[in-house]
Amino acid sequence: MIKKGIILSGGIGTRMSPLTKAVNKQLLPIYDKPLIFYPLSILMLSKIREILIIVNKGQLNQYKKIIPDGKRLGMKITYKEQSKPKGLPDAFILGKKFIKKDKVAMILGDNFFYGQSLSKMLQDCVKIESGAKVVLHRVTNPENFGVAVVEDKKIKKIVEKPKKLISNLAITGLYYFDNKVIEYAKKLKPSRRKELEIVDLLNEYRKENSLSAELIGRGGAWLDTGSIEDFYKTSNFVSAIENQQGFKIACLEEISLNNKWIQKKDIKKSIEFYGRCNYAEYLKKIIS
Ligand code: DAU
Repeated sequence: MIKKGIILSGGIGTRMSPLTKAVNKQLLPIYDKPLIFYPLSILMLSKIREILIIVNKGQLNQYKKIIPDGKRLGMKITYKEQSKPKGLPDAFILGKKFIKKDKVAMILGDNFFYGQSLSKMLQDCVKIESGAKVVLHRVTNPENFGVAVVEDKKIKKIVEKPKKLISNLAITGLYYFDNKVIEYAKKLKPSRRKELEIVDLLNEYRKENSLSAELIGRGGAWLDTGSIEDFYKTSNFVSAIENQQGFKIACLEEISLNNKWIQKKDIKKSIEFYGRCNYAEYLKKIIS
């Protein structure tokens, strides 16, 4: 069972400048919460309670204001700064001391997942014994993502942002690894764009035939919030669901309570922490 998770939440957000000049992208709003709440909620729904958040150098204080240490959520949340965006696999080099001898899940700080039976899928994924696992989603614009060619549920080929169509199955930013990930990440060489590449890391597992995949079906949504347009699309999605159903997506305290990591009385601290706002009103309803 995977019990530790990393959220890679750095990057300089060039594509979203000037919005990202002073504030990290993952702290910008998706409807009524900072973007980081959504990937964090995904790890929490996976029952992962020990989390390392990797942030861009100089932005740690911004993050700590909103997610100090996880205590209010009954979790252990720690941080590590990344000096510059060296590529996704750098997370495992920076996270070596956090991972220790364990297996680890990683989610990119800008990935949004939602759907029926998603929690069940997440809780199945963390059960991997060895090897690595990726989560795939069908898209109409595969050229913007890492993609996988799958045959008989086995990954045959993976390519980062292919110019020619080889598959329409995107590799989402949610990954599961055994402890070899540290050793593999350390061996990687930077690519032509001077970054360590996640596909190179995944290929190490594919070569030894230990890379598996889970597909999110038509009932599930995956949105990558790479551009301002995506931010609006995702915000509209969250707003439509929340306002129609009256439930909040990614209400961290609600998930902790359901996981029995905290009790109703602990939520009072969060209500005080957030102050007078719609999110706190929702928390009041949960404990009333
Ligand atoms: O979202 C899924 C896609 O994410 C995958 O399909 C691709 O295979 C994968 O390479 C990645 O592609 P992106 O082009 O979206 O990666 P990007 O460089 O935008 O980084 C994703 C997030 O990770 C972003 O929130 C910033 C953060 N990041 C990125 C790098 C390279 C870091 O915190 N540190 C880094 O060094």
